[in-house]
Amino acid sequence: MRLDDTTRQQLVATALEARQWAYAPYSGYAVGAALLTASGKIYDGVNVENAAYPDGICAERVAVFKAVSEGEREFIAIAVVSQDGGFPCGSCRQVLSEFGLDTWVIVANTHGEILQEARVGDLLPRPFGPKNLLD
Ligand code: THU
Repeated sequence: MRLDDTTRQQLVATALEARQWAYAPYSGYAVGAALLTASGKIYDGVNVENAAYPDGICAERVAVFKAVSEGEREFIAIAVVSQDGGFPCGSCRQVLSEFGLDTWVIVANTHGEILQEARVGDLLPRPFGPKNLLD
């Protein structure tokens, strides 16, 4: 399924709006995410840093964990907004891949401009996933 433009824009707007709540006093790199589930709900997320640096978490994973903790496991797309439109980090790609390689990843900057779009499977080739453990 390809995303329609209204959905794309809505996800980017939600991620941009959420980004204001990022807690990023150490890096100064605020990120907002918005995850669309197959049930039609949108879960947002922001990065939450910590004085003990490794304990911080990315916006994408917050959005995924919020969704999964409410019973959602099928994802259509996630929009990620940052100052330069950076792609999700490796850990976030791995976490997203657990729930499907077809999920669209839309990256946008803080002007709301969509810079790129790709599927999780394109961002994480040859993944280690549920099949390795459950088959
Ligand atoms: N960050 C995210 O929230 N998502 C990413 O995919 C890349 C990095 C956050 C983590 C950290 O709080 C800050 O951006 C700088 O790395």
